[in-house]
Amino acid sequence: MSPTEPVLQVRGLSKSFGSNQVLRGIDLDVPRGKVVALIGPSGSGKTTILRSLNGLETPDGGSVTVGARDSAADNAALTVDFADAALPKKVRTQQVAALRDRSAMVFQHYNLFPHMTVLQNVIEGPVQVQKRPRAEAVAEAEALLARVGLAEKRDAYPFELSGGQQQRVGIVRALALKPQLLLFDEPTSALDPELVDDVLAVIKELADEGWTMVIVTHELAFARQTADEVVFMDGGVVVERGPAAQVLREPQEERTRAFVRRLLHEI
Ligand SMILES: Nc1ncnc2c1ncn2[C@@H]1O[C@H](COP(=O)(O)OP(=O)(O)O)[C@@H](O)[C@H]1O
Ligand SMILES: [Mg+2]
Repeated sequence: MSPTEPVLQVRGLSKSFGSNQVLRGIDLDVPRGKVVALIGPSGSGKTTILRSLNGLETPDGGSVTVGARDSAADNAALTVDFADAALPKKVRTQQVAALRDRSAMVFQHYNLFPHMTVLQNVIEGPVQVQKRPRAEAVAEAEALLARVGLAEKRDAYPFELSGGQQQRVGIVRALALKPQLLLFDEPTSALDPELVDDVLAVIKELADEGWTMVIVTHELAFARQTADEVVFMDGGVVVERGPAAQVLREPQEERTRAFVRRLLHEI
């Protein structure tokens, strides 16, 4: 398999909420093992892109391909063409579900099930959705929790954890699904400042391990260290993209310059 084979290929993605056109033709490529940081002002459509990739939102047009074309059958590439308006609703629903299976999302507000323990949160997807044997899912969950320093929180409930701990559980829950693609939506923006670094360190480790990821973040220093490519979007379009050092240090577009300058001044 070619290492540059895209795990994710997005073409012309568009989405409106009523008369509000939120995505206006987004193209995005993420090669296997690469990390793309998606940055841009609030309301520019970043979350809508991630939700579309994870089957939580159905775009109006464009296409999404996830998975390598030449890999084993259960990893084979899936393309969903949202422009095909003639497609029966049932088929579309099946396609979106298949798309959802290939990625896992880490949410800004963790989105853990409050009535379930840490372990139950982590094994819910593998056992209930993926129908994997419970004992195997538990063993994997325990290993992943140990990895992020939360082995002893296995039987705790989310309300008993700090935000940083909850988010590390959120990351473990995503990893437990063994997705081809990890999606992070401002994973540290809800955290107290002193809890941010632990979570970013875990994400950086995953990047170094070769996970393929799209990360929406306002942490520019983190993006510079972790991302292979930075994509700046505004108003539902990609304004500028390129190597992290270039986009963050020498942006070509005025809108990117203004955004980066504003964020740096806030720090
Ligand atoms: N479910 C929804 N219904 C209506 N409008 C929405 C919905 N989700 C997002 N929007 C709108 O889409 C725009 C982009 O939102 P979002 O993708 O969350 O941007 P970002 O993540 O970049 O802040 C915003 O104007 C937001 O109000
Ligand atoms: Mg958002």
